[in-house]
Amino acid sequence: MTADRPRRLLILVASPRRNGNSALLADAALRGAHAAGLDASLHFADDLMQTFLRDCRDCRDEHGRCRIDDGYADFFLDRFLEADGLVLSTPVYWYGMSAQAKAFFDRMFCYVARSYPQSQRVRERIQGKRVGLLTASEEMYPTIGLSIVNQVQEYARYTHSQFVGAVHGQGDRRGSVREDRHGAMAAAEALGRQFFERPHADYQVDSVR
Ligand SMILES: Cc1cc2nc3c(=O)[nH]c(=O)nc-3n(C[C@H](O)[C@H](O)[C@H](O)COP(=O)(O)O)c2cc1C
Repeated sequence: MTADRPRRLLILVASPRRNGNSALLADAALRGAHAAGLDASLHFADDLMQTFLRDCRDCRDEHGRCRIDDGYADFFLDRFLEADGLVLSTPVYWYGMSAQAKAFFDRMFCYVARSYPQSQRVRERIQGKRVGLLTASEEMYPTIGLSIVNQVQEYARYTHSQFVGAVHGQGDRRGSVREDRHGAMAAAEALGRQFFERPHADYQVDSVR
């Protein structure tokens, strides 16, 4: 975050359905972020990644760069590392995040690993961002998205990021999250609007309070 530019928020939709429930929740967060004057943009994981992480030892070129020729490198290095926050919007697939969402995290490894020549810069820039989560699922018992919440929390802990909010929306048919009985769309919009203002406290025993 710098004082001379609006804070930058990336919203990543990790569903193949462009007009699905994750995309709708993401749109709501985007509306909120724009209302708050943030520099926010929405992206689809399917536009960035064509494949999963490979064995980096075989994949890297002679300069140590990943040989996977899709949009991930540009997005990760130029947009994600320069952003102040990320909202991930994923459907619940088999009680976890979608493969697209998981691949987004997995492929970071290529740049964080010490075998990447600029890994030091990556490890510095990956830290300190705010992270939010939107999930959509057919089922609606209270812990349906919990494994995803846990995983994002661990990502945040590992990268010294701040996990500032999670919203779950119930829906199965495309667009049915609009009918979520707990107001998921409004909650997603509020998450976008308050993204950088929400209080966050994750203390250690020696934290100064
Ligand atoms: C491969 C797959 C796995 C799914 N697994 C679950 C599940 O474990 N629990 C659940 O409640 N819904 C499950 N669903 C339903 C989706 O979470 C639900 O339709 C969601 O709204 C889809 O979001 P989208 O419109 O953004 O794609 C699954 C759907 C698919 C295609």
